[in-house]
This record gives sequence, structure tokens and C-alpha cells, in this order.
Amino acid sequence: MNKAVYPGSFDPVTYGHLDIIERAAAVFDEVNVAVVVNPSKNPLFSLSERVELIRMCTQHLPNVTVSQFEGLLVNYVERQGARVIIKGLRAISDFEYEFQMALMNRKQNPRIETLFMMTSGKYSYLSSSLVKEVLRLGGCVRDLVPPIVEKRMRRSLGLPSEDSEA
Ligand code: PNS
Repeated sequence: MNKAVYPGSFDPVTYGHLDIIERAAAVFDEVNVAVVVNPSKNPLFSLSERVELIRMCTQHLPNVTVSQFEGLLVNYVERQGARVIIKGLRAISDFEYEFQMALMNRKQNPRIETLFMMTSGKYSYLSSSLVKEVLRLGGCVRDLVPPIVEKRMRRSLGLPSEDSEA
């Protein structure tokens, strides 16, 4: 079975992530979305909330599974029986850091390949941190995250729900 792992913080999952998940699910037999247990940044959502939101947003993709992982990514990928790490690239600015991580992961385990997928152009400016900042400051995130994600973000940030604003 051709299985790939798509790792990340997903705090929260955005339409940009979902675009990559859909593209990967069309190419691989199984795509495991792997949520890192301790993201470097201070997360808005708990691990279980991040996992739950991705599960809800990928229900239409039968070959996508969602789990959590801790420790070295390449070790997790090997335990999953996968050989490929999927990474999304939005712009050239992503490249340097992703290149560094891909080479470090290869150094740690040369059997695992990193495969970069280009996100759709319409999501090339999108990031979880920008979405959080925009919503926190009263901006509109409608086309950037699924409605359930926006609802949960509003709740976590202590913002009024959209319905109560109308
Ligand atoms: O969504 P993010 O925050 O850009 O994802 C980063 C992630 C989780 C892919 C990266 O931090 C990672 O792989 N963490 C696991 C620990 C590890 O293996 N570190 C060495 C990577 S070279």
C-alpha cells in the first residue's frame, strides 16, 4: 500500500491544508494526517480539538486518517508503514525552511522521502497564524477556514458567534 504522512501543527486546519490533503488523497492509497503533540508555538486548540476538527473536515475522504504524533517525525512515519512525508509549499518563502527540514529528515532516515505539493494559488497567502490574527482583530475568515473551524475559533477566542452578530 502506498501510504503518505502529512504532518503539521494544524492550529487550526485551513482550506490551504485541506487542499493539500485532497491532492495527496488523490495520489496515495492512504494519507495519514499527523498532528504534532507539542507544536513550537503556543496553540489555540488542544491536541484533541485539532485532531477532531481535521476529522470533521475530511469526512468526505475515505482514505484519509488523522492521528497524533510525538518525537521524531521520521520514526513516526516508519511506524506507520509509510515511506513518504507530504509537505505543502505555498511560496518561495516556505522553501528554505522546508528544504532544511527535508534534508534533516533524510539524514535521520534515508528511506523516507519528502514530497512537496504546491498549494492552489488561491491559498498561497494563507497560514493558520494569520487566520487567527485576522479573526482576533475582527476580520473575515470565511473563505479561509471551514465554517466549523471558524465557529470553534470564535469560541476559543471568546468572540461572539457570527449568528449573534447579525
Ligand atoms: O505545521 P508546522 O508547524 O509547520 O509543522 C512542523 C512539523 C510538525 C512538521 C515539524 O515541526 C516536525 O516535523 N516536528 C516533529 C519533530 C521532528 O521530527 N523534528 C525534526 C524535523 S527536521
